[in-house]
Amino acid sequence: MVNFDFSTYNNIKLLDSDLSHIKDRFLSDNNMAGWYDLDINTSNIKKCADRIKRNADILIVIGIGGSFLGAKCVIDALTPYFDKGKPEIIFAGTSLSSDYLVELLEYIKGKSVYVNVISKSGTTLEPMICFDKVFDYMKKTYKDYKDRIIATTDAKEGKLLELSKAEGFELFEVPNDIGGRYSVLTPVGLIPIAVAGIDIDKLLDGAKLAKDNLDDCYKYTLIRDALYLDNKVVESFDVYEPKLYYFTEWLKQLFGESQGKSDKGILPISTVNTRDLHSLGQFFQEGNPIIFSTVIYNGSDSEVFIEKYNKNLSDINEIAMKSVSKAHYSHMNTNIITIDRINAENIGYLIFFFEMSAMMGSYLLGVNFYDQPGVNAYKNNIKECL
Ligand code: PA5
Repeated sequence: MVNFDFSTYNNIKLLDSDLSHIKDRFLSDNNMAGWYDLDINTSNIKKCADRIKRNADILIVIGIGGSFLGAKCVIDALTPYFDKGKPEIIFAGTSLSSDYLVELLEYIKGKSVYVNVISKSGTTLEPMICFDKVFDYMKKTYKDYKDRIIATTDAKEGKLLELSKAEGFELFEVPNDIGGRYSVLTPVGLIPIAVAGIDIDKLLDGAKLAKDNLDDCYKYTLIRDALYLDNKVVESFDVYEPKLYYFTEWLKQLFGESQGKSDKGILPISTVNTRDLHSLGQFFQEGNPIIFSTVIYNGSDSEVFIEKYNKNLSDINEIAMKSVSKAHYSHMNTNIITIDRINAENIGYLIFFFEMSAMMGSYLLGVNFYDQPGVNAYKNNIKECL
């Protein structure tokens, strides 16, 4: 269950003309919104995940940006903090750190390793450098290395596709009409998520529920736009559960890359509370009033009774969230989105909700939600210099 409290925006007039503009644009221009269609056949994904689960001690997921953040955010949100069980899922190819690569190759020695290499273009520098080294290791270590590598990439072109076909790796497609940061509910995200033991059908069910209930999404999108026009140019996604940290990282990419272009856009930042109340909290309360907040709050099943306050810890967390939001109201508009539990349905719901909002908000801003010319420019610069 997801609940929306937009009450601090009561003074903002929501314009029906904006809403119809969004709807018209979407109906006429949804050529890169393949993710809107949630009828995904998951049987091959599940089969592949079961094979990995049966045979692997470690799954290395190699990818960056949209080819990593979706899976990472869902897995972190929906698995325990400590004992995550087997196989261990390790993300790699997200930096050019030689220490990370050296330590990874050392750490996996003697363990049964599977690899899911994910890159839509098949040419991105960080994952491809990492994959070259891991591929060498796999070839040297396993006779059946071809069965241990799964590639997720474009169906028509790219070096990764060519190599995968030549070697005979199991291949999954990143659909042509889905950009990286919208790809979590495709094989890009769903394979690692299923290997982590998460019910991907429930995740998709949650997304479908969001698709059938878009009113709050329209409202949130229009409110963001109104605030932007009122010079609130920073949005802080604030969570009160540390395992949602990567969800905010995914949101930063989703909104940052979709809308930060043509000298426009709201800068997405995030806090993990109550930790960051002791750092950024001061700025939020009294600093430059350019920020608005979108809290993603979750209920919890775990009960820890705190005698001193005669309350459960989760109730104290909620009191903290409400008190902080109330204190901020005078200085900062605050949305509160509450999920009753962190579970697959609710996370799926939020994923679709925010994807829709990022796309619709881009229409209002007048920017293209699915390209990233800036990212491509620096990717090319690095390649030229190399
Ligand atoms: O959202 C995007 O499209 C980007 O962030 C990409 O996901 C990222 O640059 C990785 O690209 P690729 O999957 O081609 O390696």
